[in-house]
Amino acid sequence: MAQPKKHLEKKVCLITGASGRVGKSIALAMAAKGYAVCFTYIHSEREAAATLKELRIMSPESEMVKCDVASVKSLQEMFRFLRRQFGRLEVLITTASNFYPTPLPKVSEKEWDSLVDTNLKGTFFTMQFAALWMAEQAAKNPSELFRIITLSDVAAELVWRHHAPYTVSKLGIQHLTKIFAKEFAPAILVNSIAPGTVLLNPKSDAKHKSDILKKIPLGRIGEPEDIVKAVDFLESSTYITGHILNVDGGRLLY
Ligand SMILES: NC(=O)c1ccc[n+]([C@@H]2O[C@H](COP(=O)([O-])OP(=O)(O)OC[C@H]3O[C@@H](n4cnc5c(N)ncnc54)[C@H](OP(=O)(O)O)[C@@H]3O)[C@@H](O)[C@H]2O)c1
Repeated sequence: MAQPKKHLEKKVCLITGASGRVGKSIALAMAAKGYAVCFTYIHSEREAAATLKELRIMSPESEMVKCDVASVKSLQEMFRFLRRQFGRLEVLITTASNFYPTPLPKVSEKEWDSLVDTNLKGTFFTMQFAALWMAEQAAKNPSELFRIITLSDVAAELVWRHHAPYTVSKLGIQHLTKIFAKEFAPAILVNSIAPGTVLLNPKSDAKHKSDILKKIPLGRIGEPEDIVKAVDFLESSTYITGHILNVDGGRLLY
């Protein structure tokens, strides 16, 4: 087999959907922690290129790759690229996600597929490819711990109107997290971060924001840095697996 192009001393972290927003903050934090970061984007090529430029200041080996997580073929190509470029993978963080309202009486097959395929099918196959590769590496180096962190949503536990395919897909991610944690223990620690509202849609108006704030006991919308702190914690913990960590300012207390 051909040797990877970048034979690295550094550990490698794959983050899906990190051209901007929360994924970008996580990618920069992982680079600052000393990882070579490979992240995926799908539509936002320009933003992704700007993110890569920032990442390479801290971690010159970092790469970006276009990938549609809803397509197994696209995921296979992305993992082939990773193996070729880096030859190793220690951490997977799945942030790629699709989100928009879908009033129940009008949910179409296309909407269902685009939400569930990206969020649930995409997360499943990304985890499957990564976990099998990590297990191969663990067989050669049993003292190494590998990690998978999925991004779900506290909405998985709320009965949100107008978001059935989205919330079901995020609940599915939480269950997959537990299934993978059991299947791949003890080599791979698999946990999920369930954010509350962290970044509002740029189109949100003042009323929408104040309605959301009324349901957050800690009195503020979250920031990507709040999620980064949770990633940092799970990346360094050694005795937590199959856990769903709510990072929601207390939103679930309502
Ligand atoms: N932001 C929040 O308040 C919040 C709240 C609860 C949960 N979360 C979860 O936390 C994570 C990060 O949040 P976020 O708001 O930063 O996410 P986001 O902006 O909604 O989505 C992240 C990225 O997913 C990528 N993506 C969409 N469809 C894809 C596909 N089929 N294949 C590959 N990539 C695809 C997009 O890439 P391109 O930019 O290249 O199109 C997008 O930048 C997500 O999983 C989200 O569901 C966020």
